[in-house]
Amino acid sequence: MTPSPAPTPLHIVILAAGKGTRMKSRIPKVLHRAGGKALIDHLLATVARFRPATTTLVIGHQTEDLRAHFAGRDVVFAIQEPQLGTGHALLQAESALKGKTGCVLLLSGDVPLIRPETLGALVEHHLKQAAAATVLTAVFEQPDGYGRIVRKDGAISAIVEHKDASAEERGIREINSGIYAFDLPPLFDALRQVGSTNAQGEYYLPDLVRVFRQMGRRVETVVLADSVEILGVNSRKELADVAAVLRDRKNADLMARGVTILDPASAWIQPDVEIGADTVIYPNIYLEGTTKVGSGCEIHSGVRIVDSVIADDVVVSNYCVIRQSVVDRGAQIGPFAQLRPDSRVGESAHVGNFVELKKTTMGKGAKANHLAYLGDATIGEKVNIGAGTITCNYDGVNKHPTIIEDGAFIGSDSQLIAPVRIGRGAYVAAGSSITEDVPAGALAIARGRQVNKPGWIARLKQRKD
Ligand code: UD1
Ligand code: CA
Repeated sequence: MTPSPAPTPLHIVILAAGKGTRMKSRIPKVLHRAGGKALIDHLLATVARFRPATTTLVIGHQTEDLRAHFAGRDVVFAIQEPQLGTGHALLQAESALKGKTGCVLLLSGDVPLIRPETLGALVEHHLKQAAAATVLTAVFEQPDGYGRIVRKDGAISAIVEHKDASAEERGIREINSGIYAFDLPPLFDALRQVGSTNAQGEYYLPDLVRVFRQMGRRVETVVLADSVEILGVNSRKELADVAAVLRDRKNADLMARGVTILDPASAWIQPDVEIGADTVIYPNIYLEGTTKVGSGCEIHSGVRIVDSVIADDVVVSNYCVIRQSVVDRGAQIGPFAQLRPDSRVGESAHVGNFVELKKTTMGKGAKANHLAYLGDATIGEKVNIGAGTITCNYDGVNKHPTIIEDGAFIGSDSQLIAPVRIGRGAYVAAGSSITEDVPAGALAIARGRQVNKPGWIARLKQRKD
């Protein structure tokens, strides 16, 4: 058997030195977020599938913000200063690619919707045709602003920028997507032949097409089937458009897997979220980060769940916020409940309206149905927490734990002043301020005794006459 040839090394170059003026932002354009991730991170996640040999980012503005964002990651920076056009931008990547062979996949930093299948097809075609350059093109009804693909006898002969195009060329509807594959060895020598005598006085990267053709090298095109993939982000409007596409893609995938989504336009489910079949998602919800929702759940309107795990058959009723927490099978949360980080609600437990948990575990079948603050607490199985219960976990300097053992009953409007332990099966009378541990099976009453004074009101009124 003959061994297959070593795969051609692939080098990614991403252009992101432009100013992004129309975003009107202090944040670099490619760091704006859609679908819970920076635009550039969508792109990097997509190209990472090809296991690139190198990844180079050409940057020019707010370089410190960008370096901080990529700290510790396998990304090389090339600085373009001043910005003299896309051709000049690519030239700045030369030293990062010195002595390397293989193929360059070049993209703009602001096209988060491009699919790996599309890039794979582009590179495959490029390698198969042994081309010097392969341009990803698209056909647009409204091609204004884009570079136009000029063809001679069917083959691409040049790309003409909109501002430089003749009336006839402006009629061309096939446009340059700004995504290309290049053969690395001849790339930078060819790029040095690109001039800047054009309408914008810039070094145009697309002029490489003309240069390679004049050198007698092969230039190829691949036409994009779904033009939404090259939707770029130049403004807040386009940022919202991209976010909506990411949302729709995710929701389509979830529905195909058996999730019911009542109103896909208002279900904001981030790309890495997982949801099991037969879960029903009501309108206006936000499921974020690494959240996993099991099957057979109901997630009602107004809910936000971040980086949490929700087991099967859980009901999260309206207007709950759940962050970095775990909810076990069959539990019921809300309406109007908040689970703050590091909380765990046990199997079939109930957390009702206006209940807040922080770093608190509730055992199987435990209930806190109304109006409670439970912080730094470990609550056993089948514990009943009455309305108005507060764990006083903070003395102004330190946080202290509350332990409530299995089967205990906390009467309404009680304060448990931590550190404190309520023993197994113990009762706390309503309205108590508990400062000492309660032994298992005991009843603790810690409140002022009631005194009734008969006829007291009548005597009061007599005195006034
Ligand atoms: C470019 C193409 C055009 C194509 C369009 C697709 C050129 C000259 N034209 O036009 O044919 O149809 O993309 O969207 O390339 N950048 C730098 N340094 C610079 C200039 C730009 O890094 O000096 C970066 C930008 O940050 C951006 C990318 O290059 O990520 C493209 O630049 P942009 O100005 O958006 O190009 P267009 O004029 O849209
Ligand atoms: Ca431009």
